[in-house]
Amino acid sequence: MLFENTLAFAQKMDKEDELAVYRKAFHFPVINGEEALYFTGNSLGLQPKRTQEYVDEIMNDWASLAVEGHFKAEKPWWDYHERLAAPLSKIVGAKPSEVTVMNTLTVNLHLLMVSFYRPSEKRFKILCEEKAFPSDQYMIRSQVRFHGYDPDDAIIEVKKRPGENFWRTEDIIKEIETAGDELALVLMGGVNYYNGQVLEMENITSVAKRCGAIVGWDLAHAAGNVELNLHDWDVDFAAWCSYKYMNSGPGNVSGIYVHERYHNRTDIPRFEGWWGTRKDVRFMMEPEFEPMPNAEAWQISNAPVISVAPYLSSLTLFEEVGMQKLIQKSKVLTAYLEFVLHEIDKQVDSTFEIITPEARGCQLSVFLHGEGRSLFDYLMEHGVITDWREPNVIRLAPAPFYNSFEDIYSFGQILKKGILSHK
Ligand SMILES: Cc1ncc(COP(=O)(O)O)c(C=O)c1O
Repeated sequence: MLFENTLAFAQKMDKEDELAVYRKAFHFPVINGEEALYFTGNSLGLQPKRTQEYVDEIMNDWASLAVEGHFKAEKPWWDYHERLAAPLSKIVGAKPSEVTVMNTLTVNLHLLMVSFYRPSEKRFKILCEEKAFPSDQYMIRSQVRFHGYDPDDAIIEVKKRPGENFWRTEDIIKEIETAGDELALVLMGGVNYYNGQVLEMENITSVAKRCGAIVGWDLAHAAGNVELNLHDWDVDFAAWCSYKYMNSGPGNVSGIYVHERYHNRTDIPRFEGWWGTRKDVRFMMEPEFEPMPNAEAWQISNAPVISVAPYLSSLTLFEEVGMQKLIQKSKVLTAYLEFVLHEIDKQVDSTFEIITPEARGCQLSVFLHGEGRSLFDYLMEHGVITDWREPNVIRLAPAPFYNSFEDIYSFGQILKKGILSHK
C-alpha cells in the first residue's frame, strides 16, 4: 500500500476503516485537555466503556442477593468464569475445553510448571530466550532451584547474534537440537516484550516436541495481538495476561491453555483446589479430588468475579469483531507507523532505529540513539503516551481496536517537533 504522511491521507484511511467505530467504545486518558495519543496497549489496554456495566452488575447482585448471588444472579458467580472459555478459545486457537481463566500470569506459569516441568536425572533442562521478561526469568530460575538443580546447568538461554536485535529461528532450533534428550521444557515468550518479535511458535514447538520436550508459551504480548493456533500447533500449555491487548484492567486475571491430551490424566501432578474438582460433586464437600475433565482442573480457588467481569466485557468486543479483522487492521496500522517514523527520520535527519523485525504484531520498538529519555518525556508532556524501556527504547503499540491512522500522523508531527527542539 502507498502511504502518505499527511493529515488528509490519515483521515481518509480512518474513514475507510470498518473498525474505526470501536474507538468510541473506549475511555481515553486526557492530557492538556485533550484525548491522549495512546500507544501503550501492549502494557495496559484502555478501558472499554461497557466494562463499568459488567462490574456494576456484580456489585448490584452482591448488594441485593449477597451469598445467593453464587446461584441466583442472572450470571451466577459459581460458573461465571465458564463464560470466557468459548470467546477466549477463538483468540488463542484452542478448543473451549482447553482454556480457562484464573489467578495472574506468573502464578499460572508456576502452577503449570508443577505439571509440566518434571525433570529427571537425564532430562532436566529448560530452554528460554535470553533476557526474557524478568518475571519469567525469576519463575524459571526458582522452579529449577526448587527441583534441586543449579540454574547455570539447567537453563539454556538462546542468544541473539552479536549486533542483531532479534532471535533467529535457526539459532533457537540449533540450541533445541543440541540439548536433545536433556531438554525437559521449552518455555518462551511468543511475542517478545522488548523488541516485539513474534517467534515462529509453530516451528519451534514442532522441533522441540520431536526432541521429546514439553512446550509452553508465555503469551502475554501475543494473546489478542497475533494469530495463534495453540491446539493445531500441538502446544502443551500456555498462559497469558488479560490487561494488555485484551483490555481487562490493571493486573487482572490470566488465561491458561492446556492441551486436551492432558485432561483426565491422573499421572501428572497438579496443585489442587476445590474449583478444579468436578462441579457436579463440588459441593458434596468430599475429601477426594475429582478433576474437571478440562483445563478447569487447574483451577484452585473460586473465581474472583469482580475481576473476571471486565475480562468478560472485553471479550464481547472480540466476539463482535473477531481476530481476523483486528489482525488485518493491525498490520496496516503498524506499517503506517513504520512509514511515518521513516518519513520523520528523513526529514529531521535523526538517529533512531526500529529494532522490531518483520515478524511482528502491532508493537514497534524504537531505539533512540542519542535522543534518550528527554525525548520520551517531551512526548509525554505533549499528549503522547508511549512506554520507555531501559536502556534506550520506546515501545509504540497502535492497537487496532482504538488507535486511528490520524493518531499516528499526529504522533509523527509531535515527534518531529520534539526531535528538532532537542537538536
Ligand atoms: C512477557 C511477560 N511475562 C510475564 C509478565 C508478568 O505478568 P504478571 O505480573 O501478571 O504475573 C509480564 C507482564 O507484563 C509479561 O509481559
